Amino acid sequence: MFLNKKRSFLLAALSLSLAASLFYCIFTKPKDKPIPVDEVFSQAPWSKPLPILPPLAGVGEVRAENCGRCHVEIYAEWKTSTHANALSDLQFQSELSKSSSPRWLCLNCHTPVANQRETLVNYLNNGDYRTPIEEPNPDFDPKMKAEGVTCAVCHVRLDEQGNSYVLGANGKTKPPHPVKIIPDKLKNRCLDCHNANYVLDDQLVCAFKTGNELEQSGNSHGKLACGSCHMGELQRKLVKPELNTPIRTSHKHSFIGGGVPKKFELYEKQILGGYRTGLKINPIQWKQKGNDLEYSVSLTNEKAAHNIPTGDPERFILLKISVLDSKGKSLATKVIKFGQEWEWYPKARLVADTRILPGETKVWKDLFVGIKKDQSKIVFEIYHTRLKESNAEHMRKNSENVSSDDLRKKISKIENHYPFSSIVHKEDIDLNSGKSRVYSPEELFRISKNRRGE
Ligand code: HEC
Ligand code: HEC
Ligand code: HEC
Ligand code: HEC
Ligand code: HEC
Repeated sequence: MFLNKKRSFLLAALSLSLAASLFYCIFTKPKDKPIPVDEVFSQAPWSKPLPILPPLAGVGEVRAENCGRCHVEIYAEWKTSTHANALSDLQFQSELSKSSSPRWLCLNCHTPVANQRETLVNYLNNGDYRTPIEEPNPDFDPKMKAEGVTCAVCHVRLDEQGNSYVLGANGKTKPPHPVKIIPDKLKNRCLDCHNANYVLDDQLVCAFKTGNELEQSGNSHGKLACGSCHMGELQRKLVKPELNTPIRTSHKHSFIGGGVPKKFELYEKQILGGYRTGLKINPIQWKQKGNDLEYSVSLTNEKAAHNIPTGDPERFILLKISVLDSKGKSLATKVIKFGQEWEWYPKARLVADTRILPGETKVWKDLFVGIKKDQSKIVFEIYHTRLKESNAEHMRKNSENVSSDDLRKKISKIENHYPFSSIVHKEDIDLNSGKSRVYSPEELFRISKNRRGE
């Protein structure tokens, strides 16, 4: 009995505590707890925008537009850059309009100064990036918002008194605005955004490793910063001529990358901005067995101190080789693709990586065995793709969710407004004479400008 009694007591106690916990669950949901962003992301540089930057002495509001009043050429170059288009980018706008997109986080790299933000996020509910606590920003500057990765992102910081100053790398200049010269800080700023590896959850992964790739390229390229190649050196005045400053060593601010600009009209600026492909098609070795020709082709990552392609995981390169008859009709085609291959569901995972490492040469042997000399031509083409048709199709379908009329129209006909890819090399070889014709970059960009879609 004793035992029984004890058991029943235990049972009663158990059912009471069960009821209590049920009661607790139903009536007192765990309270939402705001956790500071800095705690959740251990102060990753992209987890918050730069603080509010007050007007700069001698300049005024820290908008690019204002810097451009004196730094006329640099401003004009920057205006054509992908950085200046980082917010207006149609692909970005399309992704931002998805209900699942963590907008506040995306904007930290695409509009990275607090002045550019309608709302600011300092806390996350329960530390979850999907439930940011947005607070209105009284210092919001809509003009500066449109500037995307604007001058101040790299050049303006706060001193101990909370005043804005310009971060520079030259030091011999006497500007009308305050400057501090810290060359490494300025030059390494790129890495905060272009070398961000972070797994937010199963589907949201940030995998930009361009900085690591550069580091791993080791001594073969010496000590290089991103700007050594992406901000070509030139001699000029840093400001408009009326200010009577001497000619100095300056740097192009077009930030040219893979040769696929954000708008068709920007194709014209690629060569001017310093574009060059990093790839070299090496002498096409060919054997001859009687009347039969055999082709091999090799590609070298000659000019990029990081993988090709780098950056966005969806970028890829296509090497297309075609054999044509005398009328230009294609007899055979071979397409080789290299880039990263990701699986997004159920869990984001890199499944293959066929990118070309700095200095690496990939060889494809015996591409076409038994080509006849009288078969006219063999054509080698290289395409750099940023947006593939299947993703563009998603964008068109989802365009209804985009709130602005203008953007919705553009995204629904994305192929007319946004270059998907560019042709970055073309070479024809006459099989009879062995003579080759290599297309100039000017010709290639003209072709690219007239392509639409894939
Ligand atoms: C009123 C004209 C004016 C405006 C506006 C202006 N600057 Fe300058 N800036 C100058 C002059 C003049 C120099 C010195 C040029 C020289 O001596 O060759 C200079 C130099 C610089 C330098 C080089 C400093 C060094 O020694 O490394 C940087 C960087 C710079 N400015 C950035 C900016 C940025 C960013 C803005 C906008 C927030 C801006 N400037 C707005 C006139 C201006
Ligand atoms: C850590 C900084 C960072 C964050 C956070 C970030 N981006 Fe980006 N984004 C970049 C950089 C750097 C590039 C350029 C990469 C390149 O050109 O290959 C880029 C490029 C893009 C592009 C253009 C891709 C292309 O191939 O043209 C899109 C679209 C984009 N981001 C969307 C987003 C969205 C959506 C989010 C939020 C989920 C986001 N980004 C968050 C840094 C960031
Ligand atoms: C605050 C974040 C941020 C910083 C800092 C930054 N970038 Fe970027 N960069 C971006 C974003 C975002 C894009 C892509 C915008 C898009 O595609 O919509 C981009 C695009 C580029 C591209 C264009 C690639 C292409 O093919 O069009 C190059 C090149 C580039 N950045 C180089 C640099 C260099 C060099 C530095 C440092 C001097 C730098 N970036 C600093 C965010 C940043
Ligand atoms: C993505 C980062 C980035 C952005 C955006 C950017 N700059 Fe620069 N800028 C640099 C770097 C890095 C250097 C130093 C290059 C070096 O010395 O190797 C530099 C150098 C300069 C200089 C010194 C002279 C020279 O050409 O080297 C001036 C002036 C300048 N920038 C003005 C501007 C202005 C004005 C804007 C906006 C229109 C702007 N920058 C946007 C990164 C940036
Ligand atoms: C030794 C020169 C060199 C250095 C250093 C360099 N790049 Fe590049 N980068 C290139 C070349 C060349 C291309 C064009 C590659 C191609 O053919 O697509 C390129 C392309 C890019 C692209 C466009 C994507 C692509 O694959 O074309 C981005 C983004 C980029 N670079 C960012 C960076 C960043 C960030 C750094 C610093 C960590 C950096 N680069 C350092 C030469 C360089």
